[in-house]
Amino acid sequence: TAHNLADYRPYPFVLTATRMTFDLQPKATRVRTALSLAPREAGMDLVLDGGKEVELLSLTIDGKAPDPAHVLRRDETLTIAAAALPPHPFLLETDVRIDPSANTAFEGLYISNGMFCTQCEAEGFRHITFYPDRPDVMATFHVTLDSDLPVLLSNGNPVGQSQGRAEWHDPWPKPAYLFALVAGDLVAVSDSFTTRSGRRVALNVWVRPGDQDRAGFAMESLIKSMKWDEDVYGREYDLDVFNIVAVDDFNMGAMENKGLNIFNSKLVLASPETATDTDYERIEAVIAHEYFHNWTGNRITCRDWFQLCLKEGLTVFRDQQFTSDMRSAAVKRIEDVQALRSRQFREDQGPLAHPPRPDQYEEINNFYTATVYEKGAEVIGMLKRLVGDDGYRRALDLYFDRHDGDAATIEDWLKVFEDATGRDLAQFKRWYTDAGTPRLTMAEDWQEAEAGGTLTLAFTQETPPTPGQPEKLPRVIPIAVGLIGPNGDELAPTQVLEMTGASQSFTFDRLGARPVVSALRGFSAPVMLSRQLDDATRAFLLAHDTDPFARWEAGRELALSALTAASQGKAAGGDYVDAIGRLIADGTADPAFRALCLNLPGEEEIATRLSSGGITPDPDAIHAAREALARQIAETHLDLLSDLYDAMAVDGPYRPDASDAARRSLRNAVLALLTRIDGGERAEILFGIAGNMTERMAALTALLRRGRGQAELAALRDQFADNRLVMDKWFAVQPMAAPPAQAAQVARSLSQRKDFDWKNPNRFRALIGGLSANHAGFHAADGSGYDFTADWLLRMDPVNPQIAARMSTAFETWTRYDAGRRAKALAALERIAAAEGLSKNTREMVSRMIAAG
Ligand code: ARG
Ligand code: ZN
Repeated sequence: TAHNLADYRPYPFVLTATRMTFDLQPKATRVRTALSLAPREAGMDLVLDGGKEVELLSLTIDGKAPDPAHVLRRDETLTIAAAALPPHPFLLETDVRIDPSANTAFEGLYISNGMFCTQCEAEGFRHITFYPDRPDVMATFHVTLDSDLPVLLSNGNPVGQSQGRAEWHDPWPKPAYLFALVAGDLVAVSDSFTTRSGRRVALNVWVRPGDQDRAGFAMESLIKSMKWDEDVYGREYDLDVFNIVAVDDFNMGAMENKGLNIFNSKLVLASPETATDTDYERIEAVIAHEYFHNWTGNRITCRDWFQLCLKEGLTVFRDQQFTSDMRSAAVKRIEDVQALRSRQFREDQGPLAHPPRPDQYEEINNFYTATVYEKGAEVIGMLKRLVGDDGYRRALDLYFDRHDGDAATIEDWLKVFEDATGRDLAQFKRWYTDAGTPRLTMAEDWQEAEAGGTLTLAFTQETPPTPGQPEKLPRVIPIAVGLIGPNGDELAPTQVLEMTGASQSFTFDRLGARPVVSALRGFSAPVMLSRQLDDATRAFLLAHDTDPFARWEAGRELALSALTAASQGKAAGGDYVDAIGRLIADGTADPAFRALCLNLPGEEEIATRLSSGGITPDPDAIHAAREALARQIAETHLDLLSDLYDAMAVDGPYRPDASDAARRSLRNAVLALLTRIDGGERAEILFGIAGNMTERMAALTALLRRGRGQAELAALRDQFADNRLVMDKWFAVQPMAAPPAQAAQVARSLSQRKDFDWKNPNRFRALIGGLSANHAGFHAADGSGYDFTADWLLRMDPVNPQIAARMSTAFETWTRYDAGRRAKALAALERIAAAEGLSKNTREMVSRMIAAG
């Protein structure tokens, strides 16, 4: 059954307070709940959500059991007829039994490694007890936990602790999805933070005994986040404690439960020996993300799940700002654009395309997507660009002021911008309601004149149809441009052109000489820009553009033009290879920036580029073209690269900061190229001497891509057999870096190992996701990648539907390939669809994908 935005109705009862007592037993946990309810209007039935597995033991209203005829239990709900309800405020008490040990879906209350924990977003609370499990029903919570386990945590402030019992009170009304509890044998890394108004907050990062020495970086990141949110957004923390818990079995990255964030352990635990620079950066960003939710998500939450991007888009935007302040803003922007293009553009072009605010869904868990999160953040970036930094700040102040304590909507959000800045955002709203990536075309016209020449930029926009949205209206597109003179000086600094029509022109006059246009600076809008530009001009921009994103983009375009030509059997690459040589020799450029330029576009990105130009991508030809170009770069610049490899070595103890990480990233990019011609010599040496995981993984990956690295794999396994997070990397890298023709077989034989603990989401994602990250391997012409993936999705689905549904997106691009591949992919999808008892999660995904055929 589909849920529709238009069907929203407020809940007919007001819930003010929730009291719960948990008797935590692995197989039979008792949950007693008391809800203080009041009817909003007379004569309404009370409908509570409650999963099939929640066993109702007793129910009373103001202490008395209602007539059983007035209580109706269906599969997913419990209804108490209006006739059994008083017309005034009443107390509804339930006593239920659940079995956390049987919960393999990791939604609701479950057990991970002997520890009780919860995941309630989006609709997990209904697997714990009967409740109005919707985000616009908010209550204070008072929670009592009974258990022999030593550490007992829930939301809010601790209000009582005795042998075998802990009590927690959360004074901030919240929806059920923000509820959490944790009970286990845990130890804390502790610190404190004093807010600017003087509240001293106790901070704890809880981990399993033995993991304490890997939790320090998470704590540092938390403290930085708390400070940053005060400095930049004026947001203070509002409880006496802030707890973070790392758990090994977790469906997603992390969760912002009020005062008790629960994290996938891979986003908490880090040491130089076990985590890469990328892991450190992600930990810092996700700790910040979840902390920032305290204001954008918790204090102001969502009215319903259609509004998910209200909290996620904004919180991603905030964590991106945080990372740019902590590290290099230029590098962060480029990385974010790369991620957006590879995941969100891909989604937007396929059968799973949807707007940042969808208006229909079957299973909300299928909408925690790149579109809701990352495009949701881009839309806010555009808003900020349009109203300016001051306007943005005023709008945000108004948002916090006006909506604190609310369950809000995208309309509320846009209204604060309108009220704070006087701008009409009716047309801008299309970014929230329309799916698809606009195609923006730019044409230049130059007219010489005595008073100085005139440059006209003519833009047209068009958005291709997406499922359910055949017709698209023009959007507001902020286009940041700068003009660069023929000698490389900037003639006109960045200005934002505001496009609102389907086609629109902008002129620049009194120009001395024809400039080179630097367009879509900073990636000022999530569009695909096409313009006629020759490779020489691109190389000019790569050398001279003052906007780091546009500069990188020029190099990217050069690389893509070389690669797309080569994958269609045309010779190319000269300009790119020359330009890249000049760039890597440029010691003044940030090493991280040079690394980004040196990493060739991925095979998936090349395929996307080809298919959006109407060309059927050939995965094997793309793979071969990319290999050939990498080799050509390595051969042409061998001396330069060897020198750079030596020069970028980082001395001293490992530090995960941006500047050391930048040097390692450049060095590793160089290593990947050199390994193509040095027989793996440097990579083998580096693997042997490196004390940190960043360099060891880079070396191992480079070797595996050359069909080597078996000894290194064995060494890593021997050293880290007991470290789950390292073993996840071990499982992921093999199918990912395998030569395409062997990738599915590599994955299949790994899947037969005893330590392929596939019910663990990280392990499953490592192996199955590792294969789908190997573009030519997953899309092997014999269908082996599709078959292997379908086999495992079918196996996972009954155990953990969320993970199965999410991983099914490996197939989301299936329609772009040739008839042979399409037939095999479709057969795999149909085999999944035909499975008996398929979850509604996977069913929704697979049927949307099949419908595109
Ligand atoms: N709100 C969490 C986060 O961003 C994600 C939780 C997703 N959970 C889910 N079941 N889809 O940060
Ligand atoms: Zn989030």
